[in-house]
Amino acid sequence: MEIITEDIKNEILQRIGEKRYNHTLRVMKTAVELARNFGIDEEKAQIAGYLHDCAKIKNKEELLKEAEIYNLNLTEDMKRAPQIIHGYLGAKIANKRYHIDDIEILSAIESHTTGKDNMSDLDKIIFLADYIEPMRNFDGVEEARKLSKINLDEAMLFSLNNTIEFLCSKDEYIALDTIKARNYILEILK
Ligand SMILES: [Fe+2]
Ligand SMILES: [Fe+2]
Repeated sequence: MEIITEDIKNEILQRIGEKRYNHTLRVMKTAVELARNFGIDEEKAQIAGYLHDCAKIKNKEELLKEAEIYNLNLTEDMKRAPQIIHGYLGAKIANKRYHIDDIEILSAIESHTTGKDNMSDLDKIIFLADYIEPMRNFDGVEEARKLSKINLDEAMLFSLNNTIEFLCSKDEYIALDTIKARNYILEILK
């Protein structure tokens, strides 16, 4: 992964903190395993996994400041669910600051939190790696891990359903991209 220099590593570590940085390393490793298992480009999975949370800035004001610097257009969904901003912003930072111009990698970073319509296999792998990395611990994670070994679409449907059910149970807003992702996977599995 020569693209990622020591300077970039230190910068990301500074931006997102050690805890989140260690999570990105676990996501990267999980993403590479999934890619290997399903015959998908392992280097792309590695880079996307490594960078997926590069914009996960805890402080909301700072996050919004960065969004403005990188010309990220804040959609209604992003305003209503600010926790989804870091995916879209992460793709901008990966592209403009870290010179990643592979649209598949950028798409996977962008859609890792919400999912989206027409997800590629790489998009699914990064979404799932983020969902099931070894330190994740929530109701359903074991089932998501099991399905991720067998079928990406089945694993996606389970994970999206689980996420949507969780958000419903908390009366929380659901991003439209998440609904679109779920409907898209449902269509594939028919
Ligand atoms: Fe994230
Ligand atoms: Fe993450």
